[in-house]
Amino acid sequence: MFNLETILEMIKTMVMVFYFIVSSMVKAVLPVSWQYKKDISKDTALVTGAGSGIGRALAISLAKHGCKVVLWDINEEGNEATASEIKRFGGHAHTYTIDMSKREDIYKVADQVLSEVGVIGVLINCAGIVNIKSILQCPDAHIEKCMQVNTMAHFWTTKAFLPAMIERDHGHIVSMASSAGLAGMAGLTDYCASKFAVVGLLEALTMELIAEKRSIRTTTVCPMAVDTPMMNQFKSLVETSEDMPTMKPDYVAQRIVDAIRTNQELLCLPRSCYSLIVLKALLPTRAMQMLLTTTGGVNAMTDKD
Ligand SMILES: NC(=O)c1ccc[n+]([C@@H]2O[C@H](COP(=O)([O-])OP(=O)(O)OC[C@H]3O[C@@H](n4cnc5c(N)ncnc54)[C@H](O)[C@@H]3O)[C@@H](O)[C@H]2O)c1
Repeated sequence: MFNLETILEMIKTMVMVFYFIVSSMVKAVLPVSWQYKKDISKDTALVTGAGSGIGRALAISLAKHGCKVVLWDINEEGNEATASEIKRFGGHAHTYTIDMSKREDIYKVADQVLSEVGVIGVLINCAGIVNIKSILQCPDAHIEKCMQVNTMAHFWTTKAFLPAMIERDHGHIVSMASSAGLAGMAGLTDYCASKFAVVGLLEALTMELIAEKRSIRTTTVCPMAVDTPMMNQFKSLVETSEDMPTMKPDYVAQRIVDAIRTNQELLCLPRSCYSLIVLKALLPTRAMQMLLTTTGGVNAMTDKD
């Protein structure tokens, strides 16, 4: 039934699967400072949503690692403030005001960046919005905007910058998803859908890059609560989230830069967030729903007035 070639191929696959399990376990316990880290200092990094929160912290961190940074945001003032901070310590920053919900604008500004600044080595899709409304309360236009900024923009930036990465067989694409891209939450149907889609997009893109034997790498980031204006918006609407422990944007940015430099494909923060994936796979759906409901943070809708 199986010829020798197929059997050898199966053995090779099993050995490689075992190798990747062991090496992932070693990587998980080894301090990052002991791990091999690629040099990104010669790369130009483009960060969307660089005018605030995690995007700003990431742009600053990448500039401190020696990257020339390209900052994209709809908020010109916030974007310029990030650039000023980078220039203060001698970093290089180029700012572009752009609405990530507009596909044609993304392609136009991407062409501008390629001719004015050059090829992008690290692309970070970080711009995002949240609505915090039940599906029936959320206006159609807000749902569409959420999908456009949080998901569709990741397709357009990838299509704009991947060809030059392929030409050099070098690059890294990062997409900001969320723990809300791993487990559904009441009051966040559009946000969760947009983040689940990002997780799927990057997973499939990674498979494409592997199939085409490219050296371009990807990182999907799934953080829980981070202390940013977006989180403040959440806390102002969801009573039960007021005491939710939050991570600092600088910490999250540092972990993302480490993930890029160590080619980590999935980064969940805090680490306990990985348990969402394991529990969802193991527990019956009703048991998982019960756990999510009682651990709080999933009832945005019911907490709103
Ligand atoms: N803060 C959290 O707790 C948290 C948790 C998980 C994931 N995230 C994700 O991290 C990313 C960054 O969020 P943050 O917390 O730093 O929020 P933030 O509100 O501080 O920053 C978001 C940035 O995106 C920009 N932006 C929004 N709409 C845009 C548009 N149409 N075009 C261009 N730029 C636009 C904003 O101007 C802002 O500068 C988002 O994708 C968010 O979904 C945040």
